[in-house]
Amino acid sequence: MITVTIDGVVHETISGERLIDIINRAGPQIAQVCYHPQLGPIQTCDTCMVEINGQLARACAAAASPGMEVFTKSEKASSAQREAFGRILSNHVLYCTVCDNNNGNCTIHNTEKLLGIEHQPIPYHSKPYEEDHTNPFYRYDPQQCILCGRCVEACQNLQVNETLSINWEDPHPRVLWDGGSTIGESSCVSCGHCISVCPCNALMEKSMLGHAGFFTALPKTALSGMIDVVKGVEPETGYGAILKLSEAESHMRELRIRRTKTVCTYCGVGCSFNVWTKDRHILKVQPLDGPTNGISTCVKGKFGWDFVNSADRLTRPLIREGGKFREASWDEALDLVARKFAEIKAKNGPDALAFVSSSKCTNEESYLMQKLSRAVIGTNNMDNCSRYCQAPATQGLFRTVGYGGDSGSIRDIENAGLVLVIGSNTAESHPVLATRVKRAHKLRQQKLIVSDLREHEMAKRADLFLRPKPGTDIVWLSAVSRYLLDNDMADAAFLAQWVNGIEEYKKSLAPFTMEFASRTCGLTEDILKDAARMIAEANGVCILWAMGVTQHTMGSDTSTAISNLLLITGNYMKTGSGAYPLRGHNNVQGASDHGAMPNFLPGYQSVDDPEVRSRFEANWNVQLPSTKGLDNHEMIEAVHEGKLKAMYLFGEEMSLVDSNANFVGDGLAKLDFFVVQDIFFSATCHFADVVLPASPSLEKEGTFTSTERRIQRLYQVFEPLEGSRPDWRIIQEIANRLGAKWQYQHPSEIYREVASLTPLFAGVTYERLEGFKSLHWPVAADGTDQPLLYTKGFAFPDGKARLFPLVLTEPTDQPNAEFDLHLNNGRLLEHFHEGNMTYRNEGIRQKTPDTFVEVSPELAKQRGIQSGTWLQLTSRYGQVRVRALVTDRVQGKQLYMPMNSVESPVNRLTSSYTDAVTHTPAYKEASVHLRVLPEVGESPLPRINHRFGHPTPQHGVEVERKWKRPDYRVPGNGLVQIQTN
Ligand code: SF4
Ligand code: SF4
Ligand code: SF4
Ligand code: FES
Repeated sequence: MITVTIDGVVHETISGERLIDIINRAGPQIAQVCYHPQLGPIQTCDTCMVEINGQLARACAAAASPGMEVFTKSEKASSAQREAFGRILSNHVLYCTVCDNNNGNCTIHNTEKLLGIEHQPIPYHSKPYEEDHTNPFYRYDPQQCILCGRCVEACQNLQVNETLSINWEDPHPRVLWDGGSTIGESSCVSCGHCISVCPCNALMEKSMLGHAGFFTALPKTALSGMIDVVKGVEPETGYGAILKLSEAESHMRELRIRRTKTVCTYCGVGCSFNVWTKDRHILKVQPLDGPTNGISTCVKGKFGWDFVNSADRLTRPLIREGGKFREASWDEALDLVARKFAEIKAKNGPDALAFVSSSKCTNEESYLMQKLSRAVIGTNNMDNCSRYCQAPATQGLFRTVGYGGDSGSIRDIENAGLVLVIGSNTAESHPVLATRVKRAHKLRQQKLIVSDLREHEMAKRADLFLRPKPGTDIVWLSAVSRYLLDNDMADAAFLAQWVNGIEEYKKSLAPFTMEFASRTCGLTEDILKDAARMIAEANGVCILWAMGVTQHTMGSDTSTAISNLLLITGNYMKTGSGAYPLRGHNNVQGASDHGAMPNFLPGYQSVDDPEVRSRFEANWNVQLPSTKGLDNHEMIEAVHEGKLKAMYLFGEEMSLVDSNANFVGDGLAKLDFFVVQDIFFSATCHFADVVLPASPSLEKEGTFTSTERRIQRLYQVFEPLEGSRPDWRIIQEIANRLGAKWQYQHPSEIYREVASLTPLFAGVTYERLEGFKSLHWPVAADGTDQPLLYTKGFAFPDGKARLFPLVLTEPTDQPNAEFDLHLNNGRLLEHFHEGNMTYRNEGIRQKTPDTFVEVSPELAKQRGIQSGTWLQLTSRYGQVRVRALVTDRVQGKQLYMPMNSVESPVNRLTSSYTDAVTHTPAYKEASVHLRVLPEVGESPLPRINHRFGHPTPQHGVEVERKWKRPDYRVPGNGLVQIQTN
């Protein structure tokens, strides 16, 4: 700790802290146009000039040192600040009253007010560029751009998409996309970072334009006229009067613009942000305070919300009658559901019914669904879609370390010396989490190893890229473990203190020699030894994995092999280390956590544990079933076998996303009674007897749990669309019609019950989650949570982890002479899953209109295929027709098909083979025959897709290039350049 004096007041601080942060904390308000705490010092604006020990310096770039004496308002400092801001105004016209950014948070407006500059000191000069509207979501106005470079910094060094730069050497600098392309044809992924940090109206969401202000919808000519009036009166009246008028207008906006915190409804990263709305119009999504994401979003979280107001929303319950659906009242539909459930239970017993919860809905809703299933119907036939993706990862962690969750937070991943990504296209499937890895890799020399079939963005960035044969990750992982143990490169001290089962585990590794791994995986021994060395030498290893690992017949075992490797290298129990299965859906972690599983009550409390059951029985006042129920996979089999008669499913597109879709569809069609609850008439609704219209996340309250076990609250942005209802209310109404007498008025009451029955969540309360506050489970009764999961030991009775011996399993559905190509599948940046939400977004549809199959250049040449050629893919289970996209992301005889299609779902081609332990389908084990069809269409990805852009990586804004301009001079005098990183 040191002391510094600011404007005569002594402050204690840590040596090296950014001076601007100390000043901001201490209170004196100073200008700081380019500074954003989450971006760090950019040093382009010079408005934060202060006097330090008699000399001028930028406060954002200065680090606190002992005895520093700082004056923020001395004459020298003030005049430098005003001079710097005057230069900024020469790039920007203050027409705030007719500006959509006049919402109380415009940095230019607020700085003008703070500095009290009355007249434009340097005349405004326009730049010889037009506005760019070529991106569907946002536009850039060079005329208003003050060249602060925040956007460039965010794009280059936080999002690390490396699209933006500023041509500092040009007579008229501006922000450039890919060095000079239009935005639309650039590598921009529409993540929105740049827009979210722009301090003015130069970058704006199109959804704001003409909507935010009272006068901003005026026709362009009228607006220009008003802007000219402002320019005309400024010399007479000064800015003071003009700003007063605009502030009055801004206050009026506050009355009609609502800013409501929510949590993203798409992937498991758990980004949170404010949604700005005017009536039911979404003005914009503004990230800032999210504990996971800060100012970060991806295209879906920032712009993917049109589906909420889609005209396709279901607003009336539907009942099937005579093979057709007819609209019904809520009472009629709910009465029918309750009556049929009661009848089927009475006739066939409770286990003739099954319940599928939604990993898109809230924790409270999953809790109620499993309570309906267990306490009201009396069956453990209860599951959620983690069965399709995450159950094997959870199993691998249960076996080895005890808890089925990420062993740290995203911050811990950032801190790793090495990140190993296996079977995950992280930059597209978990985009914001990927930014943290890309940033640490770019700026902190974090090492990156990627193992994947495809050379996607993360693979291209990797220091070491492994491309093993499909389904062989378990082999090379085990071989690396053996190599490390054999060569004394394991962490012997950690093993001795914290791990059981080393001898048996070592014996199990006998077959996994480097030679065997090399042959089996198609990787050289040298590359495997390089990987082993990098892992052994790294200061902390985090392993990130996803569906490329889990969706195999050996998904649980490969997940176990990952955890084994982490254990033998001592990579648990400290920041920068651990196991990170990347959860796919926004609340797939929470759905399992809250009991939507056939074998667990909430908090992974086993249904066959009498003590657990009696606790729930006492609270729920019922007898509970004690044997494990059917999982999703078993449910479909049971329908085919005639054992399962009725299902109730909400918020899941089971008929498309379960594997072997034809088999699943046939099963659903055989049900005596099927209830589907959704916001749209999904493909699965076609099989339903009753369809109930639900509300999406923006229309309800509750909590989600992200991949890092982080529980967060979402607040209601809109009233439920008339005719639809939040899922928890619908479930409650059905339960009550079956005699339950539940009386939950608000999801917080549901959570109170969860916490009282579940040690894992004992201290979770809505108060502790207020606003942007969050908790990582387990949460003790006093509210203490655990961002880093294992600090005092592992979740086994003796506190020690367990190495788990493995044997080799061969992948199924292998290619042969007839089905000669391997088909891989997965996600895509712009669409989520099958696309029910994202296809209802015009901008996303423009960028990525359809699905496709990726074909390698070699195969394309051999078979006469070009991008746009229609292909028929036939597997042992079904057929689809799809257009080709020729790309070197895939190689040889491997194909890749994204899962975003309702018309040609990839799961018509996948099999019913599963992971032996968890029954997760082996989606990634599929072989197909390819027939080239005569038609050649357009390329399935248009030129405006980001894949066709050419990024321009550089080290952030590169302000030094600005300082070298002949017309640049430091404001004030005697500047001391204080170097920072
Ligand atoms: S990728 Fe596009 S939207 Fe994202 S920060 Fe870069 S330029 Fe902006
Ligand atoms: S567009 Fe970029 S450089 Fe221009 S004002 Fe906005 S953030 Fe600053
Ligand atoms: S990274 Fe995931 S949680 Fe974050 S904005 Fe994108 S889809 Fe939403
Ligand atoms: S805030 Fe310090 S130079 Fe811009």
